[in-house]
Amino acid sequence: MRVPSAEIAGKKKGSGSNDVFEKCRTFTRPGDLQSAGLYMYFEVFGDRDGCEPGEVRLGGRRVLMFGSNDYLDLITHPQVKEAAAQAIRKYGSGCSGSRLLNGTLDLHVKLESELAAFVHKQAAIIFGTGFQANYATLSALTEKGDVMICDHNLHASLVEGALRSAARTVRFRHNDMEHLERCLENCPPEEKILVVSEGVFSMEGDIADLRGILKLAKPYGARVYVDEAHGIGVLGPTGAGAAEHLGVLDDIDIVMGTFSKSLASVGGFIAGEKAVIDYLKHTARPFVFSASLPAASVAAVATALKIMKKEPERQRRVLRIAGLLREELRNRGFSVLPGETAIVPVVIREELDLCRLCKSLLEQGIYINPVLRPAAAQNLLRISCTAAHTEKHVDRLVTTLEKVARALDIER
Ligand SMILES: Cc1ncc(COP(=O)(O)O)c(C=O)c1O
Repeated sequence: MRVPSAEIAGKKKGSGSNDVFEKCRTFTRPGDLQSAGLYMYFEVFGDRDGCEPGEVRLGGRRVLMFGSNDYLDLITHPQVKEAAAQAIRKYGSGCSGSRLLNGTLDLHVKLESELAAFVHKQAAIIFGTGFQANYATLSALTEKGDVMICDHNLHASLVEGALRSAARTVRFRHNDMEHLERCLENCPPEEKILVVSEGVFSMEGDIADLRGILKLAKPYGARVYVDEAHGIGVLGPTGAGAAEHLGVLDDIDIVMGTFSKSLASVGGFIAGEKAVIDYLKHTARPFVFSASLPAASVAAVATALKIMKKEPERQRRVLRIAGLLREELRNRGFSVLPGETAIVPVVIREELDLCRLCKSLLEQGIYINPVLRPAAAQNLLRISCTAAHTEKHVDRLVTTLEKVARALDIER
């Protein structure tokens, strides 16, 4: 039997090492980086009044933003903002209830059918965030006796969903079809299989071999789930993502998308067979037991989707800018990971160098996200391009990066 420790030690509650808060007080990593002047997180951005396209406000300064996933530059689009403002005027600021009960608006239902058509599926379901969409779906859809075969580099939301599920989870080496084949071969015949991948991998920006995955998975009766968070708006003839780009959209069983990147808002969705979506609507706990997305967010997504379809030049522009940036960086000797998406990751071997680099770039008025291991296999300066960027921005970024890397003596 456990005896109250305060009684034994004569100590006050909370002062002993058996306090659950103890680990928080000894958690020094952020503080260490702060003391070294290298802490890069929770920068506080202000409003964008007076900012040019591609810029944000940080501490009273205008800063060139190369870290945003607003790939189509729609967050500040007048029509998107007006749609959100109008929705607030008409519907109010929130729904105050779960979709299952009092929280379903006509706007939700309309957007769900538009999203389903957009990714060539029978039906769709909207979630409060992209994270929630992945977490809720993987955990609700699979059960004991199932197996999820997952690419090694999956986003945390997919990993958490897999961990929450009672299904067995197996990971195959990143985009390695031989390894995937071995994983499939090793599944007992009675196990039901779901293969999970991202269309465009969030950190490295590379595209999944979805044709290879489908070719291997289908003969085993496996279902294929693709997270298109970074593919939608950027790849494919209509911007539907990596699967459309590779000509296999109709063969993917479940498409996940988020509203927090190309679709200029917040939220996420899952699209697939109607029976699957109905099942999720009644069993996915983070959907059933959480309030629905506010009208303003839904209206912003619907308008962003409309603009995306009407203005395909935005997609062409972001890809052209990213291609130019890749080329210019390589010409200057930077180690850029191969890819053809809006994400341009530069390998910076040492963690400290990466932090110093980002800090110095910010001093020069350019914001870029540092990605430290283990969030990616290597430490990366993860540059993300948007349709707001111009050739001049690319030139400024490359020139500044070269100058700063040289001044800090960072190995390329
Ligand atoms: C691949 C991937 N999936 C899911 C998510 C989660 O999306 P959200 O930020 O909309 O919750 C992210 C977000 O970064 C992501 O990169």
